[in-house]
Amino acid sequence: MAMITADPQDVPKVDSFSFTPEYMAKVNEVIANYPPGRQASAVIGVLDLAQRQQGWLPRAAMDEVARILQMAPIRVYEIATFYTMFHLKPKGRYLLQVCTTTPCWLRGSEAVMKACQEAADGTTFSVQEVECLGACVNAPVVQINDDFYEDLDAASTRRVLDAFRRGETPKPGPQVDRQTSAPEGGPTTLKGE
Ligand code: FES
Repeated sequence: MAMITADPQDVPKVDSFSFTPEYMAKVNEVIANYPPGRQASAVIGVLDLAQRQQGWLPRAAMDEVARILQMAPIRVYEIATFYTMFHLKPKGRYLLQVCTTTPCWLRGSEAVMKACQEAADGTTFSVQEVECLGACVNAPVVQINDDFYEDLDAASTRRVLDAFRRGETPKPGPQVDRQTSAPEGGPTTLKGE
């Protein structure tokens, strides 16, 4: 299982990092959300942009964020190492965050996790076990990069992952026949005039 850790042995050396012009424009937009002199408040948003550009957060990227926001580097490291959304070593192109908290577990997250672990190669897919993703009504749930895939079982998980492998983007949301959290197969109440 490809876990996301900060074990120094797993971290390739990245000597320098700078934002591309496109990402720098987004960085400036995030900073502009805060009053002058309060640019440090943008640190999470700017770290997120660095991670989206690089795929993970090498120390050089954190140092560049500190420089742009005029923060002591240690303050940026503290934030990047605290939040699990930041990855301090390379991960696969698709991060499979599998919820195994009670509602998802009761609905079969073990089989979903197994299907994800079988697919995890550290390059295309990485797996991370997470606590409740806040979508229990559609359990079991896996967050894949920015989207939720819901109402999964082993077969539908494999179907979704196969589609990503082929370069497609499968439709997020329920993987059974229901709209959002409505009953499977369509409405069952309030159907009259
Ligand atoms: S328990 Fe899995 S989304 Fe809440």
